[in-house]
Amino acid sequence: MKFFVDTADTAEIQELEATGLLDGVTTNPSLIAKSGKNFKDVIAEICKITNGDVSAEVAATDFDTMIKEAHVLRAIADNVVVKLPLTFDGLKACKQLTSEGTKTNVTLCFSANQALLAAKAGATYISPFIGRLDDINLDGMELIREIRVIYDNYGFDTEILAASIRTPNHVKDSAIIGADVVTVPPATLKSLIKHPLTDKGLDAFLSDWAKTGQSIL
Ligand code: G3P
Repeated sequence: MKFFVDTADTAEIQELEATGLLDGVTTNPSLIAKSGKNFKDVIAEICKITNGDVSAEVAATDFDTMIKEAHVLRAIADNVVVKLPLTFDGLKACKQLTSEGTKTNVTLCFSANQALLAAKAGATYISPFIGRLDDINLDGMELIREIRVIYDNYGFDTEILAASIRTPNHVKDSAIIGADVVTVPPATLKSLIKHPLTDKGLDAFLSDWAKTGQSIL
């Protein structure tokens, strides 16, 4: 399973990249606005930090402008993935960009049928939003389950990128179902390692080791 971080905060990306556990980065217009930086500059900066896929989202909603924006975005770096909204214009753009050899991430997916259409359009990634479905009392994880079955039924290559991840359990459940990728906010990603028994056990080992008076080096 690939781990992407869902942020445009370059300091956070740098810190996580240094762990060697990061496979890529996703951004969206809200995360770019939060960064307070110029969109193209921040994407270029992120692409220098990581060799993994970096999703950068178009701002246009019509096909022609989406394609023009996509060409600008993919020229920033080889690892840019063009993120497109799940609309007919977005899927049309996805189909064209795929035929040009550009990687795509179709975003704002809230149903299995939308995911089916994105796969037919040749999307590299489909981004189902788990947390936002949970927010309105629906079951985000059920959507990941349905998409997994459909993609496996037909052998679609589109990777399921579980997005809008809010909790460590979202990560665990996505892994159990077989999502190909999770994109996780930095704080949630860092929290995956935490367990009180690990901390307690390490404290006990360190204190017993100190009693031996030995040194490994
Ligand atoms: O990048 C898309 C997605 O991960 C957004 O998450 O928490 O704003 O629903 P959220």
